[in-house]
Amino acid sequence: MPAALPAARVIAIANQKGGVGKTTTTINLATALAAIGKRVLVIDLDPQGNASTGLGIPRADRRFGIYDVLFDGMALEDAAVVSAVPNLSIITSSVDLSGAEIELVAADNREFRLRDAVGKSALEYDYVLIDCPPALGLLTLNALVASHAVMVPLQCEFYALEGLSHLVRTIERVKRSFNPDLDIHGVVLTMFDKRNNLSDMVAADVRGFFGEKVYDTVIPRNVKVSEAPSHGKPVLIYDMRCPGSQAYIHLAGEVLRREKRLSA
Ligand SMILES: Nc1ncnc2c1ncn2[C@@H]1O[C@H](COP(=O)(O)OP(=O)(O)OP(=O)(O)O)[C@@H](O)[C@H]1O
Ligand SMILES: [Mg+2]
Repeated sequence: MPAALPAARVIAIANQKGGVGKTTTTINLATALAAIGKRVLVIDLDPQGNASTGLGIPRADRRFGIYDVLFDGMALEDAAVVSAVPNLSIITSSVDLSGAEIELVAADNREFRLRDAVGKSALEYDYVLIDCPPALGLLTLNALVASHAVMVPLQCEFYALEGLSHLVRTIERVKRSFNPDLDIHGVVLTMFDKRNNLSDMVAADVRGFFGEKVYDTVIPRNVKVSEAPSHGKPVLIYDMRCPGSQAYIHLAGEVLRREKRLSA
């Protein structure tokens, strides 16, 4: 069996659909948790490196990253860099990671590499949030195997539920074969547009399908949220008062309340 899960709670943010708000949710939930004193580590498991950029880590400071952890046995604590947000560190992605899906196919222990790295490390974090790439390949599989729970962002648009059964089946398969503890932490509705009836319809559909798993907090579509990454800042730092920031603060509160229930 792989190493036991450490004290830190590990949450994968996953959905194989692109552009649904995985990275935005990872960065801003991490910032909101850090702001209330939790020690948080973000792992950027996406070769696009958007979480690394969004947290303002310049490419020059991405000398080591998650590739070195997965393939060169580097300890998580050696690969982590501190971000400008107090209490928040990140393990960055790098271009090397784009070959990782293929390299993992032939690697030993290919599903467990991230879990073993997390298990071995003397992590001093309360939360580890893993930003997954938009695919259900071996990188996302590594994240699901390493995590206690998975959070699924869903964009409030017509095709929101399409492909979800595949994600749910993948989570079930991981639970059966690799990680019996894996839970769906919750489903977060993103980019909700209150002027658009479709957003309401999609939200109702998703609540019908996932019931209580859907967080009460809905993240509104908000231009400040989309501007923030170009300043290398979480929206919570860029403009704390905007509706997007306020929603992520509420989401963090809900996540913590659910955490108490899940770990009780
Ligand atoms: N609440 C929001 N309001 C406005 N724009 C948003 C919001 N959430 C995300 N966006 C924008 O939508 C785009 C996609 O978001 P994001 O990068 O978080 O999705 P993703 O699921 O990580 O994408 P990928 O699958 O490519 O990794 C980004 O340009 C982001 O700035
Ligand atoms: Mg992303």
